Amino acid sequence: MNILLLGSGGREHTLAWKIAQSPLTEKLYIATGNAGTARVGINAALNPNDFNAVKNFVIQNRIVLVVVGPEEPLVNGIYDFFKNDPELAEIPIVGPSRAGAQLEGSKDFAKDFMLRHNIPTASHRTFTSDEVKAAEDFIRSTPPPFVIKADGLAAGKGVVIETDVEKAISHIHEMLIDKKFGKASEKVVIEQFLKGIELSVFVITDGNDWIMLPEAKDYKRIGVGDTGLNTGGMGSVSPVPFVDHAFLDKITNRIIQPTINGLWKDNIDYRGFIFFGLIKVEDDPYVIEYNVRMGDPETESVIPRITNDLVPVLLACAEGDLTEQIIDTDPRVSATVMLVSGGYPGEYKKGYQISGLPEDVNETGHQKEISMVFHAGTSLNNSNEIVTAGGRVVAVTSLAHTLNDALNLSFKGAEEIYFTDKYFRKDIGFDVL
Ligand code: AMP
Ligand code: GLY
Repeated sequence: MNILLLGSGGREHTLAWKIAQSPLTEKLYIATGNAGTARVGINAALNPNDFNAVKNFVIQNRIVLVVVGPEEPLVNGIYDFFKNDPELAEIPIVGPSRAGAQLEGSKDFAKDFMLRHNIPTASHRTFTSDEVKAAEDFIRSTPPPFVIKADGLAAGKGVVIETDVEKAISHIHEMLIDKKFGKASEKVVIEQFLKGIELSVFVITDGNDWIMLPEAKDYKRIGVGDTGLNTGGMGSVSPVPFVDHAFLDKITNRIIQPTINGLWKDNIDYRGFIFFGLIKVEDDPYVIEYNVRMGDPETESVIPRITNDLVPVLLACAEGDLTEQIIDTDPRVSATVMLVSGGYPGEYKKGYQISGLPEDVNETGHQKEISMVFHAGTSLNNSNEIVTAGGRVVAVTSLAHTLNDALNLSFKGAEEIYFTDKYFRKDIGFDVL
């Protein structure tokens, strides 16, 4: 079958690499892809947010499965666009409806959803631009730290954690009055600060049945010891050592099942991934955020640990028939180290040639240990050389029997790849070793 995968980052290279291994896959197109996806499929010059262009491409290339990588087309309603178009309605698409994507697209919606369905999360208040004074009063009457979130999508920059009252208020002004994130900051959510350790849990669901994928932990800050600015993610590990059966049961019973039931009760069509951004406070899980897609760079650690064919699972998800499907997990541990452009997450230069890359993502097999390289921000220049094209450039993932071995292999792999101003964190996994 011909498959179209939308997206162009490390998550998409990893998914493309996995999908390409399926005997069911004939042609795999990635829109727009990167230099890595071009090695496992065919890159398509197609904007995932231009739904009419996606439609023409799907029809012309006889696509029978569409997998949506990033959140933006989902929040913009690509699922509904397909279902409402007579020529596309029957084409399976992995990703939630616009209503379901609100779990990520609006923090206020997600908070209300959790309250309504009794799902543990930090307590909160929402304020609109007519309620700036009330937001100020709330800050002045609440003990710090203050967790202030823009309601909508803000490319990972919409959350501020502040201890100073005046600075907190000025962040609120930037969002509500100056509209720092445009429509995305027409509302702000102010939350109770939760202290604990974070983890990422993923399920694939058809809105009724669901299957858990291996869990992961990501490292969001740019600096050693989880310091400095937030990034899209500097590395990840899977599994998460502190997650045992008892804790997984709590996650299942208090968070996953109530979320699926909630979608059902609210009549929300949801056929896709749910990424639960969780925090463990003492021994209990709380939801920090929902995402309606896989995580990046968690995907780079999670997908290589799945040993069975993913295509039947994706197809069954989109067709609303997950009952018979399974996810088999490699007992080995994986660790991903992200190589980024110097300056990121601030300004950085692009177009530097990358050397030391392996010819292919190595095959997974049942070797004792293995490393692979997934591309994130890479492209081919006019001379067909692979060059940097983004903040996060490539991810090195290793599978080994211990976390220590997996990390060391990935650090070694990261040393062997070269581009000007390369940077990576040498302490991924430090808090769980
Ligand atoms: P979010 O975009 O909602 O995931 O928030 C980004 C990051 O801010 C999270 O990964 C956490 O590290 C932190 N964060 C968000 N909400 C809270 C909270 N209620 N308590 C403590 N930290 C939080
Ligand atoms: N790694 C966090 C995210 O994908 O949002």
